[in-house]
Amino acid sequence: METILMFSADKRTPADLFITGLFQNGRFVKELKLLDPVFAKDAESVVQKGRLIGKFEETLSFYHSGYQEAPEVLLLGLGDRKSYSAARFRQIIGVAVKAVKGRKINRVRILLDSFLDGKLRLQEAVPLLTETACLASYEFDKYKKKDKDEEKAGKKKTLEILVTKKQGRETLYKGIERARIIANATVFARNLINEPGNVINPQTLAAAARQLALSKKIHCKIFGLADLKKLKMNGILAVNQGSVTPPALIVLEYGNRFKGKGTICLVGKGVTFDTGGISIKPSKDMEVMKSDMSGAAAVISVLGVIADLRLPLHVVGLAPAVENMAAQNPQRPGDIIRMLNGKTVEVRNTDAEGRLILADALAYTERYRPKAIIDIATLTGSCAATFGDKAIGMLGTSERLMARVKRAGEETGERCWQLPLWEDYAKSIKGDHSDLSNIGGPYAGTITAAIFLKEFVPDNIPWVHLDIAGTAWCDKSRFDCVKGATGVGVRLLTRFLSDWK
Ligand code: BES
Ligand code: MN
Ligand code: ZN
Repeated sequence: METILMFSADKRTPADLFITGLFQNGRFVKELKLLDPVFAKDAESVVQKGRLIGKFEETLSFYHSGYQEAPEVLLLGLGDRKSYSAARFRQIIGVAVKAVKGRKINRVRILLDSFLDGKLRLQEAVPLLTETACLASYEFDKYKKKDKDEEKAGKKKTLEILVTKKQGRETLYKGIERARIIANATVFARNLINEPGNVINPQTLAAAARQLALSKKIHCKIFGLADLKKLKMNGILAVNQGSVTPPALIVLEYGNRFKGKGTICLVGKGVTFDTGGISIKPSKDMEVMKSDMSGAAAVISVLGVIADLRLPLHVVGLAPAVENMAAQNPQRPGDIIRMLNGKTVEVRNTDAEGRLILADALAYTERYRPKAIIDIATLTGSCAATFGDKAIGMLGTSERLMARVKRAGEETGERCWQLPLWEDYAKSIKGDHSDLSNIGGPYAGTITAAIFLKEFVPDNIPWVHLDIAGTAWCDKSRFDCVKGATGVGVRLLTRFLSDWK
């Protein structure tokens, strides 16, 4: 759903639905009366009769006799003013967009003044609205047959943001443009992730990255099987041994290495399907493992965004892409491999594959001498067990860097919560016959996985690991998402990079 700005002068054009918000036990904003006094009266009488009191997420739609340009209205309860926030605004907009989704409504007009408050300013509300409208109207339905009625209802919808203030239009237009870029990149990530494993494999993922790079004019290098062998990236090679599709290491590079604020490396886990390998997973819900490349999708999409936004940065995005299968010549539990940085690993569980491919990619970042490394990965079921879908697990070697990531998370709603990376956990990943084992004990799985990764992070470079196992996939429809990929990480990392100094 596209959003456009609209000013008082445009209010006489026709629309299919008019939306206004109401705080609990509050009054309608005066702008409603200015729009149309008869309509305002209709709305007030509905409230007086107690048909709607403004409780959070309460909705009521009806036809009224006033404002003839938009005879149907949807009233949205905003809850009490004390509990109001930007997050609540997003949720309520999501509710409204979902209410419109399947209906034959093409032009929606929203009175933004009714949603503003000390806690939400106009300049902040416009991009939030744009982003949420785009994300909440998202569907992954390219493989579905559509009937005629659905097609009609699904026709392009536009959300007209009616703004009564005259000043600051330029800032608002810029805010919309920026939000559109970021939301579209999130959709791009969602699409890559929702594609099934028979469509997106290491090769097609690499092709998608290359195509994006071409369209955004960013540098792209894909390391294939022969390159990976030459480089001795045995973690990536070992995990992919069971697959008929060759692995790839996708490297996207934006900006100039020798200018500006130093290099930032982003590393995303790109397991296009995770069966577990010989340590095979149970079949229940295994189809969700097509989302095991969500980290890679986020990194690829973010490189596209920063190119669109022309951020003055040098960013290298690395995405090791493999398929964790159990055919061909798969790795056996107990295999010992020598990783890119020379350390040996006993693969006690072939399902702990993400850390093996990330290890090589992390070690590879050394050549860029980055100022910061952030990896993002659907790494452990343990993280999903800890945080559910509400927080990204965050661990790292730099409190400063983590504070920045945490702030970006709060600002975008992709919140991160820190777990300890204490040395005390290191014992559990020592190998019997090798330097390391790829699994720790039965507990603290998210932490031991991060402790493992730390062994491969180049010395003295600030590093943050983000575990998105719980947040990358949405089991049930939410206000800004349907069942499937969430595209988590795109908004977070874009904000983090935009604020990088
Ligand atoms: N991709 C999975 C983690 C995962 C699980 C992501 C559920 C999203 C939802 C990862 O490769 C994995 O299998 N991890 C194992 C590690 C264990 C064998 C040490 C896990 O979490 O069970
Ligand atoms: Mn696995
Ligand atoms: Zn995995």
